[in-house]
Amino acid sequence: MENVIFYFSGTGNSLQVATDIAEKLEECEVVNLAKFPVETEINAKRIGIVFPVYFWGIPNIIRRFLSEIKLAGTPYIFAVATCGNVAGSSLIQVNDLLKIKNQKLYSGFIIKMPENYIIYYDADSKEKQQKRFHDEKEKLSHISQIVISKKEIPFEKSKYVIDTLFGKIVNHAVVRKFPSKDIHFTINDKCTSCGKCEKVCSVSNITIKNNKPTWNHHCEFCLGCLQNCPVNAIDYGDKTQKRTRYINPNV
Ligand SMILES: Cc1cc2nc3c(=O)[nH]c(=O)nc-3n(C[C@H](O)[C@H](O)[C@H](O)COP(=O)(O)O)c2cc1C
Repeated sequence: MENVIFYFSGTGNSLQVATDIAEKLEECEVVNLAKFPVETEINAKRIGIVFPVYFWGIPNIIRRFLSEIKLAGTPYIFAVATCGNVAGSSLIQVNDLLKIKNQKLYSGFIIKMPENYIIYYDADSKEKQQKRFHDEKEKLSHISQIVISKKEIPFEKSKYVIDTLFGKIVNHAVVRKFPSKDIHFTINDKCTSCGKCEKVCSVSNITIKNNKPTWNHHCEFCLGCLQNCPVNAIDYGDKTQKRTRYINPNV
């Protein structure tokens, strides 16, 4: 395999970035890392990791993936963190995990995409979303040139100091509790038992029982189930009832 980009994505932003970069590279596979058998040795010249920022750092699944993957030789590894606004220490964390495997991050980028953390924020306006998609396209040519020429460059840092400095601590403190936070998902009577939530959950954390979704407490908290529900039947406690859902329209 010449090039492979592994992605994790709840609402499609990271999938869009992964697919767009892959189009610019020749012979590039795009692989959902949640479905990848980590015991398989990865033999590629360039490896990309694209993921959403969660609480100033990386999702649990990225930590697990980078700790478990088996890499042949020393490929050119790059990462892209997609975020709403602050990327914290996510790329530093990726590099730290690679160092344990005697590998390194040759380049790392931050791309601001539409916000999907509906528990705190409403979806961005359509205008803001379009602006973000436009800026993503512009940044992509820069990223792909660096990746194609396998340039080693200092990876991008968040423009704020506080999230970079405290990113690891905040991220670790919050995301480690995510697997069981799914107890707060609720279903209202609009649920049609269509099973979409079960299908979109990349970590197979949802089972339909008695025609209703149940969450099995190994949640990554990507919010894909809530955001993708076609009838807005899923909520998180009392936080999301009045908020507009977001799914990336380009994937
Ligand atoms: C659990 C969770 C935590 C998040 N934390 C942050 C954050 O710390 N900083 C930020 O800028 N965006 C944060 N976001 C927003 C996402 O990183 C951003 O919208 C991302 O592009 C979503 O990618 P996806 O569509 O591939 O899932 C968070 C989203 C979720 C679901």
